[in-house]
Amino acid sequence: MRHFLWLIDYTKEEIKEILSIGFEIKKETKAGVFKPYLKNKQLAMIFEKSSTRTRVSFEVGINQLGGNGIFLSSRDIQLGRGEPIKDTARVISSMADLVMIRTFGQERLEEFAKYSKVPVINGLTDLCHPVQLLADIMTMIEFEKFDFDKPSQTTVAYVGDGNNMANSWVVSASKLGFNLKIATPKGYEVDDFIQKKAFEFAKESKAKIEFLYDPKEAVREADVVTTDTWVSMGQEEEKEKRIKDFKGFEVDKNLMSLAKKDALFLHCLPAYRGYEVSEEVFEEHAEEIFTEAENRLHAQKGLMVWLEKQQKN
Ligand code: CP
Ligand code: NVA
Repeated sequence: MRHFLWLIDYTKEEIKEILSIGFEIKKETKAGVFKPYLKNKQLAMIFEKSSTRTRVSFEVGINQLGGNGIFLSSRDIQLGRGEPIKDTARVISSMADLVMIRTFGQERLEEFAKYSKVPVINGLTDLCHPVQLLADIMTMIEFEKFDFDKPSQTTVAYVGDGNNMANSWVVSASKLGFNLKIATPKGYEVDDFIQKKAFEFAKESKAKIEFLYDPKEAVREADVVTTDTWVSMGQEEEKEKRIKDFKGFEVDKNLMSLAKKDALFLHCLPAYRGYEVSEEVFEEHAEEIFTEAENRLHAQKGLMVWLEKQQKN
């Protein structure tokens, strides 16, 4: 049995397999064909943080695959009143076939997975957001900005906070072999542990990963530019300080003009215009941004079907 806790546990081949199932099912879905790949399977979805995309994409996804999604907010279940995560895991995994969790510390997710009898999917933690990266890679492929066979032709620039999204981009680049330039303000760098791991994987994948402090240097000649909120869920009290510290890190027209002419702009959403991205850049790139959001549905269907297949093997 496999869990999907972070991309560090996944090979390039496995990511490719998951996405190829996702692409196939996307094609079927667009043609109005809904095959019951996960007939009668129950997906429990535990949310300790807010969500729009993750909730809707997993719930619609499992329903379209012939299964059923159960939305569990920690505000309503005993977990939120202090029931241990390991007991919650033992109970839920005795009834459901798959579990998705959105929580704070990665260790909470790992504790759940340790006691779960069924595959557990990371729906975002403070450390990483691997399902978002599945959708982002799918989007880069669709817009012809990434090819699994020629990864070194792609350069992605990430501008902003060294947060869960930045960590996920770093791990993805290091596994898949594309180049990545990350620019963060001082004090907001990507985790040392993630940097170390990435350099280790990059030896094999040949990815070139650079950690910078200058957004211009990062964006220059990039094929894809991406960013994320400066204030992640759980950091609300730091908002004022962060807005000051991130001055100069907004992806605006001037910054975007340094990237390749036809560069994509991706954002996992929700986006805060006037902070990490300007209204102008956002609206100019709405097509790829909302394809990226929709691809959460298709990529995660690929993931759920793939995880189920591993159970049978
Ligand atoms: N990108 C993303 O995970 O969005 P939600 O927080 O709305 O789920
Ligand atoms: N970094 C953001 C991502 C939201 C999808 C957060 O953790 O709030």
